[in-house]
Amino acid sequence: MRCIAVVRILLIVCTLLTTWYFAEQIFTSKWETKSLRNIFDSGLNKQKVEKKPHRKCGNEKECPQDYFAFRMISGAANVVGPSICLDDNMLMSSVKNNIGRGLNIALVNASTGILLDTGHFDMYSGDIKPVKKFLEPIKEGTLIFIASFDDPATKLDDKTRELFISYGSNYAKKLAFRDSWVFVGGKGLKNRSPFEQHIKNDKENNKYDGWPEVLEMSGCIPRKM
Ligand SMILES: *[C@@H]1O[C@H](CO)[C@@H](O)[C@H](O)[C@H]1NC(C)=O
Repeated sequence: MRCIAVVRILLIVCTLLTTWYFAEQIFTSKWETKSLRNIFDSGLNKQKVEKKPHRKCGNEKECPQDYFAFRMISGAANVVGPSICLDDNMLMSSVKNNIGRGLNIALVNASTGILLDTGHFDMYSGDIKPVKKFLEPIKEGTLIFIASFDDPATKLDDKTRELFISYGSNYAKKLAFRDSWVFVGGKGLKNRSPFEQHIKNDKENNKYDGWPEVLEMSGCIPRKM
């Protein structure tokens, strides 16, 4: 019995030593390291070749010169926050920690693309006054990005709806409890904005139980000259 035990221990020690020896050979030998690196490098190069060219905000299409690339996503139910990207800069997102339930609004200089301000306003249990205060100082030549999260409308009043309509919105008038909405407007815009999507909260057709589907909108906005 004792003899078997000794043999077992010897075997284990032998195995450990051999493993250690080979591990040492593989990890410290320059030749091995180099060839390993080559394997990784060629793998990476291959990936690079197959990867799609980078487009601003991860969009499918490239924007012409003098256009801003944008992508915005509304909130998913009351769970995942919205995001707004402009020319590869994330203006608002959960990661940036500057979003919240209700209306998420980013103001951008339409000539330079520079972010002027962001704000999020709880339209379920919040107040409409801060929204008005936020929109009041907007000057002509400002782009207004709005993404909904959870409920964008309960506290909306006619005056604020009229403001959104004046920025080019088609849907602000009928925006209601838990609708999904994404919109890019402009102060001083002469026409309706082509950048707007809206889904009604409708029990029969909702993707989530109490909320409609997420909206994702991307495109190119002409720079104001
Ligand atoms: C945008 O930036 C330009 C250049 O700095 C400035 O002249 C213009 O007043 C700005 N417009 C707005 C709306 O901030």
